[in-house]
Amino acid sequence: MDSIRIKGGKPLFGRIEISGAKNAALPLMVASLLTDETVTLSNLPHVADISTLTTLLCQHGAKAVMNGQTAAEGCSGGRALALTADRITNTEAPYDIVRKMRAGALVLGPLLAREGRARVSLPGGCAIGTRPMNLHVGGLEQMGATFDIEGGYMNAVAPNGLHGAEIRFETVSVGATENLLMAASLARGVTILENAAKEPEISDLIDLLRKMGAEIEGDGTDRLVIIGKDRLQGAQHRVMPDRIETGTYAIAAVITGGRLELTNTRAELIRSVLDILVEAGADVEETADGLIIWRTSPTIHGVDIMTLPYPGYPTDMQAQMMALMCICDGAAMITETIFENRFMHVPELARLGANINVHGHSALVRGVGKLVGAPVMATDLRASVSLVLAGLAAEGETIINRVYHLDRGYERLEEKLAACGANIERIAGN
Ligand code: EPZ
Repeated sequence: MDSIRIKGGKPLFGRIEISGAKNAALPLMVASLLTDETVTLSNLPHVADISTLTTLLCQHGAKAVMNGQTAAEGCSGGRALALTADRITNTEAPYDIVRKMRAGALVLGPLLAREGRARVSLPGGCAIGTRPMNLHVGGLEQMGATFDIEGGYMNAVAPNGLHGAEIRFETVSVGATENLLMAASLARGVTILENAAKEPEISDLIDLLRKMGAEIEGDGTDRLVIIGKDRLQGAQHRVMPDRIETGTYAIAAVITGGRLELTNTRAELIRSVLDILVEAGADVEETADGLIIWRTSPTIHGVDIMTLPYPGYPTDMQAQMMALMCICDGAAMITETIFENRFMHVPELARLGANINVHGHSALVRGVGKLVGAPVMATDLRASVSLVLAGLAAEGETIINRVYHLDRGYERLEEKLAACGANIERIAGN
């Protein structure tokens, strides 16, 4: 397994181009199952989850052409991907793929809507929480599907197709909103989703579904009205910028006391993160295609944060902000309200000298003068990148193990950081 070695303490200066958003690209790719025509996506990030999902879609019968190469030719990622599911040849999404990448379970709605049946592995829990599927299942049941859970699989049928329904989510769920949006676009009649997620990735999916012929109202609100269609068509779409990658590199600028220009992105996507960074001692200038961020204060001020559904502070930026708060001149209370177990980075940050106490859903971070490098290990994507950020600020050498987590969601991370002056390299493992 590869690891990453960082010699910290160097301020970062330069420009980083932000990739397309993994968490937008995955549902957009799944939407290709809703039509027998070609859906072409551009600005796709070159990360492992995209390749894993391509494998799953091909298994359902889709043909994938990436940058002119078919997936079968061994192309592992790419910036443009054409997916054609002219026939669905298999409605099973196996455990082997879905356990590795939960977004695989998003095929449930589209397969049911198009084929009237689907057998999809339950994803299981993961390092950040139990992450059940009840909202996906409950919504599809209201639309006429029946489920039988057996052997770790959701066996679903809708012999007469799916029909519209009024569905109220008891919790805001990005994945359940996406799954039901896709299913409802190809269902009979009108579906209303109440308490729907409002994340920008949902709006990106709505944009693509509209290009495919779906009629959807309420974009950007928590009430979505979908008028189902008998058939959807092919479309072309550019994946939105990755707001979490944008926020991560914004913190890299601030934590190292440097100045970075982030391009191919939009400041408005991470307003809640930028507001905290300004309070903590940074300044931001918005540009035509992104933003410039730099540290203004010699020390970082402690700022409390609480994760919330969009437009609140994103849970996917909690670990990175915690890394920054580790070196603040006071204290910061970080409260996680989305996932029940998303503090796995705390003991690893402590190995670098951080002073953090977890009390239930909150972590009290007492700032320490400096972090000192050490070998660390991470349990999920955002925890891993928080250790990279901490390593960039720490004195001496930090080795981050289990880099495969980072490869799932950050494209050419070491290269992008090294180009701005970071002393960072990948060490190939066995
Ligand atoms: C998406 O996961 C993202 N993944 C996550 O990013 C992100 O952390 C999360 O949304 C929240 O913003 C992708 O987009 C691929 P949820 P998702 O359904 O859709 C509970 C990353 O690091 N819930 O919005 O799976 C659930 O347990 C990843 O890039 C139910 O109770 O998240 C959680 O507490 C990690 N029942 C809350 O809702 C359900 O049926 C929000 O989860 C579904 C969810």
